Amino acid sequence: MVDCTKDYCVKDISLAPEGWKKIDWVSRFMPVLRAIREDFERRKPFKGVKIAATLHLEMKTAFLLLTLKAAGAEVSAAASNPLSTQDDVVAALAEAGIKVYAIRGETREEYYENMHRALDIGPNIIIDDGADMVSVVHRERQELIDEIWGASEETTTGVIRLRAMERDGVLRFPVIAVNDAYTKYLFDNRYGTGQSTWDGIIRTTNLLIAGKNVVVVGYGWCGRGIAMRARGLGATVIVVEVDPIRALEARMDGFLVMPMREAAKIGDIFITATGNINCIRREHFEVMKDGVILANAGHFDVEISKPDLEALAVEISQPRPNITEYRLADGRRLYLLAEGRLVNLAAADGHPAEIMDMSFALQAKAAEYIKENHERLEPKVYTLPREIDEMVARIKLRAMGIEIEELTEEQKRYLESWEHGT
Ligand SMILES: NC(=O)c1ccc[n+]([C@@H]2O[C@H](COP(=O)([O-])OP(=O)(O)OC[C@H]3O[C@@H](n4cnc5c(N)ncnc54)[C@H](O)[C@@H]3O)[C@@H](O)[C@H]2O)c1
Repeated sequence: MVDCTKDYCVKDISLAPEGWKKIDWVSRFMPVLRAIREDFERRKPFKGVKIAATLHLEMKTAFLLLTLKAAGAEVSAAASNPLSTQDDVVAALAEAGIKVYAIRGETREEYYENMHRALDIGPNIIIDDGADMVSVVHRERQELIDEIWGASEETTTGVIRLRAMERDGVLRFPVIAVNDAYTKYLFDNRYGTGQSTWDGIIRTTNLLIAGKNVVVVGYGWCGRGIAMRARGLGATVIVVEVDPIRALEARMDGFLVMPMREAAKIGDIFITATGNINCIRREHFEVMKDGVILANAGHFDVEISKPDLEALAVEISQPRPNITEYRLADGRRLYLLAEGRLVNLAAADGHPAEIMDMSFALQAKAAEYIKENHERLEPKVYTLPREIDEMVARIKLRAMGIEIEELTEEQKRYLESWEHGT
């Protein structure tokens, strides 16, 4: 049933009705993106513009891609992770005329093949999540660069990679670090990852969190959210950090802080969210308790060492969907969720709709910002202007029925002056 013969590559086009139901459901809870869509539908700012996206192809993303199409763009898309694709949503997108190439569980080769297909439209704008598409363009599709005005990047790991490209002088077009907008990381990374990571773990394992020792590796924006929600579920939370300031913050937020070699001995559930490699590895697996759960919320599946798990295991099996059991020589069993890929997307539906409402509103506005400003932007990594961040926050507050205080003229003058004192 896999169909790659037309302007799309989908598992089964007949799944589209289910995909439409999902997209319809989430769009009801995405008022900011809905407002932008209405405006874009009227103005058609992307008429004649080609946009290629590499994103987690699930229902909220679908609403962003449909918004760009409604704005007049020709849109193509591929997955940003082989396990986060929802085949029914992809089928709906294909039906809507989006050139989408993605199948859940695709191999590494198919993943890149599909990314190349999405790039074949010759994009003016790229929307990336993890910087794989931008990286592929710079390494293998340089013939496309002249037509590319710029790109926007969704996540921390992608921004780190793009800053490395800028530092090494190889970045060839401007990139907007959407991740670094306040209305992105303060909400998406913290409250989005905080909730959806637990959604993935609980759905997949059907286990109790209360009374467990939960080890959160990395106390960045994602780690803070995961730790906060673990406490709410009744766990004892242990934070593992390399940054002394963040470690101190974790302690004063009320969590235990210790190195991984100590946490490994007492943890029941381990969750990585660092953007780094091999944070949990052989020496840690060797001292873990029987039956521990290992999950990752960071962008790539390298935070928990799968090669070390495979080397230590005498038997590898699949006790439930999305759970891999590694049985060690001494009989202990370690359970890895979703092959170590982002557990909230590979084992659940990703962030809540209300969160992606803001992140994708920023993506839509970033695309417009690139279109309007690309001639004056350098090949560098930029953050979005504060006005766009505030606009997203204001629409969101309005949709939530919340009014905020306004500065009086006297207060504005007071804050701007330096003459006053005691
Ligand atoms: N699952 C999702 O939906 C989702 C959403 C947003 C971001 N992300 C990804 O999650 C990762 C973290 O993002 P963030 O915004 O929290 O980043 P961040 O930079 O704010 O935090 C990462 C933290 O990890 C720490 N760290 C690095 N190496 C470590 C190690 N070996 N042991 C312990 N701590 C270590 C850093 O000091 C830092 O405090 C990134 O890969 C990002 O792309 C995932």
